[in-house]
Amino acid sequence: LWQLIPRSKSQPPLVWHWIPFLGSAAAYGRDPIVFFRNCREKYGNCFTFILLGKRVTVTLGTRGNDYVLGGKHTQLAAEDVYSALTTPVFGKDVVYDCPNEKLMEQKKFVKVSLTIDKFRAYVGMIEEEIKGYLDTDSSFRVYQMDDINEWGSFPVLKAFSEMTILTASRTLQGREIRERLTKDYAQVYHDLDHGFTPLHWMIPGLPLPSYRKRDAAHAKMSSFYQSIIRRRREHPEEAHEDDVIASLMKQRYRDGTPLRDHEIAHIMIALLMAGQHTSSSSLAWTMLHLADRPDIQEALYAEQVKHFGTPDGGLRDITYDEIRDLKVLDAVVRETLRLHPPIHSIMRMAHEDIPVPATLAAPSEDITYVVPKGDIVMASPIVSQLDPTVWEDSERWEPLRWYDEKGFAAQAHKQYNEGEKVDFGFGLVSKGTVSPYLPFGAGRHRCIGEQFAYLQISTVICALVRRLELKVEGDFPKSDYSSMMVQPMPVNIMYRRRKFE
Ligand code: HEM
Repeated sequence: LWQLIPRSKSQPPLVWHWIPFLGSAAAYGRDPIVFFRNCREKYGNCFTFILLGKRVTVTLGTRGNDYVLGGKHTQLAAEDVYSALTTPVFGKDVVYDCPNEKLMEQKKFVKVSLTIDKFRAYVGMIEEEIKGYLDTDSSFRVYQMDDINEWGSFPVLKAFSEMTILTASRTLQGREIRERLTKDYAQVYHDLDHGFTPLHWMIPGLPLPSYRKRDAAHAKMSSFYQSIIRRRREHPEEAHEDDVIASLMKQRYRDGTPLRDHEIAHIMIALLMAGQHTSSSSLAWTMLHLADRPDIQEALYAEQVKHFGTPDGGLRDITYDEIRDLKVLDAVVRETLRLHPPIHSIMRMAHEDIPVPATLAAPSEDITYVVPKGDIVMASPIVSQLDPTVWEDSERWEPLRWYDEKGFAAQAHKQYNEGEKVDFGFGLVSKGTVSPYLPFGAGRHRCIGEQFAYLQISTVICALVRRLELKVEGDFPKSDYSSMMVQPMPVNIMYRRRKFE
């Protein structure tokens, strides 16, 4: 009944709900996109809903994205919202368990360690891992047989989760981690990963086995990384790889102090966990769409033949420099991340009362809302990435939309916002926070893994499309929102070996 009591006009409208503490948790959890769209119809681009006792104010559209992602850190803090989930998994003193200025320095350390030379080396490593996976995983039995006409089938979620962790550990994480992965590390990773769920986030510290296993797995993983770092420090005469750990060991904070061993260990765990579900879900969606669209699959294969074909009908190795010229591939990756950005909700905590610009709230020009201090503030770039007023046939996976009459450009979609032009630049996303396309976020918390993820996803796609023809087994899957990232519901892809690889 208290919802019927007139509220302060300056606060955004509250979404109607029947059960006080639960609020709109069921509708939001079932399908956040449908929930946001329904609310937008009733309340406009800015509204508040109750999520397990917390007030969450949502700001939608390009200006809504800008409001949250471009907000000042002193007003809108990410760590207050995310830390309960990430600190037990990543560990102490990194990412959201440290002052924001320190996170910014840590992001810079990672950035400088991901050099072009490393990326060049990664491409070959990733292709080798994928080849090894096809040669050994039991789901790819047909690939290992002589009969190239036979169709086999593999489970999408399992296969891409495994390919992602194998390729990320071989490259970003370094040789020691990759070697350990196939031995005793798999279970530890599994236990840590099972502590990275909405339940662990919303209700921290429950006396359940998954919480205990998460904490034990974190302790084991942290001490393993720290033992690698100690060994390298104590034995500088040994030949160690020039990997991300090596680069972090050389970095210093602005005050001159080096990173402590546990900080390096925890940054490495953060990179592993932040990249795992995001990249594997993006790969799963990409391959599903390709399996569903033989025309684009063949266009990708033709592009491989055109760029890498050899006189004997084979294909030479993929290289980093050439990957960037593959326009069909680029369009496929962009379009998949438009339709299926793995992170559907980006959140911050309001540290003070913050006005919402009238252009964003917009039931009428003279109403300005104020988001009260203590609210969680949420943007959902996927809503603008699927907005039919911005994108033609917005729900359709259509990589060709990323081409224009000049051949290739990222501005082929309709202009938006009264003729304002968007410059997507050469990278995957636009530079600013006002954009209808932000799969990697924007502003100070923008993803640091963007370039690595783009390279990893692109190389895995090339490596698979060269070797396999694909089709979806059964119906195309719907989105599953029950975990932290949007992923497809379980489904299999059918595959057959290509004649010339
Ligand atoms: C942050 C998306 C892969 C590491 C973010 C954010 C998004 C995102 C949207 C911003 C979150 C926010 O503002 O609250 C993606 C997508 C990926 C991907 C779509 C793959 C397709 C990766 C990879 C890594 C990584 C491979 C590590 C190598 C991080 C980290 C942050 C982050 C550490 C936190 C940055 C901060 O809060 O300042 N990512 N990511 N991501 N990402 Fe990614």
